[in-house]
Amino acid sequence: MEKQRTLSILKPDATRRNITGKINAKIETSGLRIIAQKRLHLSLSQAQAFYAVHAERSFFGELCQFMISGPVVVQVLEGDDAIAKYRDIMGATNPANAKEGTIRQEFAESIEANSVHGSDSLENAAREIAFFFSEMEIVS
Ligand code: RTP
Ligand code: MG
Repeated sequence: MEKQRTLSILKPDATRRNITGKINAKIETSGLRIIAQKRLHLSLSQAQAFYAVHAERSFFGELCQFMISGPVVVQVLEGDDAIAKYRDIMGATNPANAKEGTIRQEFAESIEANSVHGSDSLENAAREIAFFFSEMEIVS
């Protein structure tokens, strides 16, 4: 299996409810390692730039407003097959469809306030990690 890195965001609904540690415990229990982490409050232009791939989607405006509604915790996760593995433990975008034991099934409030983000491809993971972190801030 290929060792990969993926970008994770603990979203404002998670920081608001003070459950970032519970989510980190699920990440670490899965075998993924948190090799960089910081807490930020995104500006609107930062949220729009991060989610530029979704600019044409109907929910883009609401999504950006939600992402700036409170602090987030951005992280780099590392491990075997990290991109697919994290998507797996995150669960489906809509928590109503998320499998038992996944982060979103346990913690998400709604399809929008769904607690976590994870990169969806190698290419996007590289772009998203570089958006938030310099190499010096990533310690594997
Ligand atoms: P993410 O990018 O955050 O890891 O989530 P994802 O791949 O599972 O979902 P994606 O389709 O990329 O959507 C990005 C985020 O937009 C919000 N969303 N709202 N109101 C809606 O119908 C809707 N659909 C998506 C969610 O916060 C989703 O995670
Ligand atoms: Mg996505």
